[in-house]
Amino acid sequence: MTAKDLKHKYLEFFESKGHYIIPGAPIVPENDPTALFTTAGMHPLVPYLLGEKHPAGTRLTDVQKCIRTGDIDEVGDAWHLTFFEMLGNWSLGDYGKKEAIQFSFEFLTKVLNIPLEKFAVSVFGGDDLIARDEESAKTWQELGVNPQRIAYLGKEDNWWGPAGQTGPCGPDTEMFYWSGDEEAPETFDGTDKRWVEIWNDVFMIYNKTATGEYVELEQKNVDTGMGVERTVATLAGKTSAYDVDPLFSIVAQVCALFGGVPEDLQPEEIKPVRIIADHLRAATFMLADNVAPSNVEQGYVLRRLIRRAIRYGNELGMNTPFTPQIAEAVIDLMGGFYKELREKREFIMEELLKEEEKFNATLEKGLARFAKLKTCPIGDNSDKCKISATDAFTLFATYGFPIEMTIELAKEKGWHLDQEEVQKEFAKHQELSRQGAEKKFKGGLADNSEITTRMHTATHLMSAALRKVLGDHVFQRGSNITAERIRYDFSHPDKMTAEQLKEVEDLVNEQIQLDLPVVAEEMTLDEAKERGAMGIFENKYGNLVKVYSVGGHSKDASCFSKEICGGPHANKTSELRHFKILKEESSSSGVRRIKAILE
Ligand code: ALA
Repeated sequence: MTAKDLKHKYLEFFESKGHYIIPGAPIVPENDPTALFTTAGMHPLVPYLLGEKHPAGTRLTDVQKCIRTGDIDEVGDAWHLTFFEMLGNWSLGDYGKKEAIQFSFEFLTKVLNIPLEKFAVSVFGGDDLIARDEESAKTWQELGVNPQRIAYLGKEDNWWGPAGQTGPCGPDTEMFYWSGDEEAPETFDGTDKRWVEIWNDVFMIYNKTATGEYVELEQKNVDTGMGVERTVATLAGKTSAYDVDPLFSIVAQVCALFGGVPEDLQPEEIKPVRIIADHLRAATFMLADNVAPSNVEQGYVLRRLIRRAIRYGNELGMNTPFTPQIAEAVIDLMGGFYKELREKREFIMEELLKEEEKFNATLEKGLARFAKLKTCPIGDNSDKCKISATDAFTLFATYGFPIEMTIELAKEKGWHLDQEEVQKEFAKHQELSRQGAEKKFKGGLADNSEITTRMHTATHLMSAALRKVLGDHVFQRGSNITAERIRYDFSHPDKMTAEQLKEVEDLVNEQIQLDLPVVAEEMTLDEAKERGAMGIFENKYGNLVKVYSVGGHSKDASCFSKEICGGPHANKTSELRHFKILKEESSSSGVRRIKAILE
């Protein structure tokens, strides 16, 4: 079974169980201030797990592209990946534990034909606050799972979320497949690595609040996640995600670039080859979603991935430039499902080439500085073996070495850095914003704080104002909201004049002062279009959509703003207080970018 087959079977199965197939979200969360990347299938669905109504209903399924860089140092082993695809099905206050488990069981045993002999599960064993999950255990048993193959485990193992500091979370039940050659032991032992976890059903019935309390959610949800790469490889009897497509073919392409084939790799070549394949696949997907290499936020993570891949390519003696060729393979292999890869092919190639040329110009010189270092005994934390913070900064500023790469290269020779000193040095040069970004990434998820909700409404007002001031050729090309600012990309050929900017600001502030209610209405997509609502029509959630209007109802022609959108939004415009544009600049050809704040 290929990845394509698995995705197809999964979506088809859940569709037959009344789930609506929704498109996966972009890899950069659109309105989430606390995360750089989408980290799980549930991530874009947080507002709906917290009770917001989803236009496609209460049963959803999709395949979501995800990025997790928390374990980037582990990439190169059999299973760790920075980019992966996650299948999921959701019940938004619809079915509960029993039905969720029945669906999982049916899919695994009837569609994927996994025999019971190779199957085991774990369920939440309870703690001081929350009782052990007898209902799940009982359901598994009723379906025929031997009690010895049902393990009650603690919160470290059988609790998922919140993905960030706060948000939906709950006990889960995990499903395992026996990957060993010999017969599976009768009793399940979660520490035996031959039991590979392939699916997780999370019962999101709590909301973790900012004060650390678990408050029961009014709406009881199910959130599930199945890693595509891991499941396909495991069921094919492989012991690594790189042994099946698409990663296998990407690895083959990497090998071809230095005249090799995957089968003949030397042990010391395996890790670099896998890192290159993984990182450049992730980079290709980031570029396809409009991230460009830079020194802050998503762009910095992208830069780090590309440069790390280049550094390992250099180690393997690869001729440069090679990154566009790997991206080409990724696009060919995955562009059927992800059309953004095909559409952005040119941008992806150009950016990779640019980044590779830029880094290559200084890579040798930078590496030469490391070559000069003597080897230090591992664990020698004295100053003799310390890379100074100024050197680390020079490597960054002059040779383009991301700090993490410097740490990695230093470590290889037994050298260390003082993280605090380095932070101070970078802060001096104001290069630290990305550190905050990294934390955000690790933190994961949005809490849909009030401030971003208000910014979201301000974005609607601004986009309406831009169309009024500049004309009907203005369409949203991208939007990103953090707690600090709105970043909005839109189609427009020329630099905006000071007068135009002022006009947009004034129009938005006028709506704010009028204290207008923000009206949400549900309607069919056709109706929404007919009423002139803006938004991304293509490929949205099927029939019903939500339209948010300001300055009337969507039926009113005079209504200031109408947009198809998932929300959440402020209740009335006065909550926005005052809107201010900080900057207007070029984003790419024919696309302008505005940064704005509320104050
Ligand atoms: N959200 C759960 C996970 O990522 C299903 O594993």
